Amino acid sequence: MSIFTGVAVAVAIAVVAYGVGHYGERTKTVTVEASAAATTTTTVSYPSVSPAVAAGAHTFVQFACAQCHGVGGRGGVDPAVPALKTVGRTLTAAQLRHIIDHGLGASANPTQPYMPVWGEVISKTQVGNLVAYIRAGLPPVADTEAVTVPQGQGAAVAGAALYVRYGCINCHGPNGLGGVPNPLSPDKTIPVLSGQDFRKQFDTDAKIAAVIRSGSVIGRAPIVSMPHWGGILSNEQIAELIAYLKTLK
Ligand code: HEC
Ligand code: HEC
Repeated sequence: MSIFTGVAVAVAIAVVAYGVGHYGERTKTVTVEASAAATTTTTVSYPSVSPAVAAGAHTFVQFACAQCHGVGGRGGVDPAVPALKTVGRTLTAAQLRHIIDHGLGASANPTQPYMPVWGEVISKTQVGNLVAYIRAGLPPVADTEAVTVPQGQGAAVAGAALYVRYGCINCHGPNGLGGVPNPLSPDKTIPVLSGQDFRKQFDTDAKIAAVIRSGSVIGRAPIVSMPHWGGILSNEQIAELIAYLKTLK
């Protein structure tokens, strides 16, 4: 880190410089205004990775794997969710693909998270990329931060960001419109979280909170069930998600 003086800028400037060659070592230089007269430059280096590993790192964040298994699979979120740092060495690519497609421990214990079934939701290509990323040891990849949750702007605003950050959107669709196929479930699709029927069935905050916290196991893979988010989402985050769902059509 180095300090340059004499640069006075009104807003923070971010400069992103990608270094040498195709898929070579990548360097991201972020220049941030520290005071009116000083600018701090931090250089973060990323190891060079293949396009499949890079895509896997993005998919890992998009499907909220990172929200249960920790950033970069480092664990530390909930005791029931393992870190993934070494699993790429102990399990084969086929075993990893099977776990992601079919889930693990579809738990009868609703107070504990389990590994969701992803086979109907995530494509073969995306699963292949996730496996490549896990087998590479989940290296840091630039620009893979999860959506940030705005503070001090009300519960519904926070809830809208959480809906993306925790991957609800991948299963329940934008605006809670549903439509994601779940062919062997009674409804044939993952349910909507908007509209008259949803509001009639889930007419209290307590009912919505209960299903988010404890999930709902419809059946085994290939059926997709509602994950248990208790232990992952705080009561406050669940209340924010409910506030957001109430703003939907
Ligand atoms: C709702 C929380 C949650 C989410 C989201 C989640 N997992 Fe898991 N995952 C778990 C739990 C809990 C286990 C342990 C299950 C068991 O052993 O009973 C697990 C286990 C695993 C394992 C096996 C680890 C081992 O040591 O055997 C892999 C691999 C894995 N998850 C990958 C993923 C990937 C990739 C994603 C994103 C597509 C993901 N997980 C999303 C909760 C989650
Ligand atoms: C892996 C896919 C998946 C993810 C991710 C997921 N859900 Fe679900 N969710 C389901 C399925 C499947 C059901 C239907 C369960 C049933 O019918 O028993 C469901 C049911 C629900 C319900 C009850 C609606 C109904 O009609 O049964 C609510 C509320 C809900 N989910 C909210 C959320 C929220 C909030 C998130 C993000 C924190 C989320 N879900 C993430 C698959 C998912």
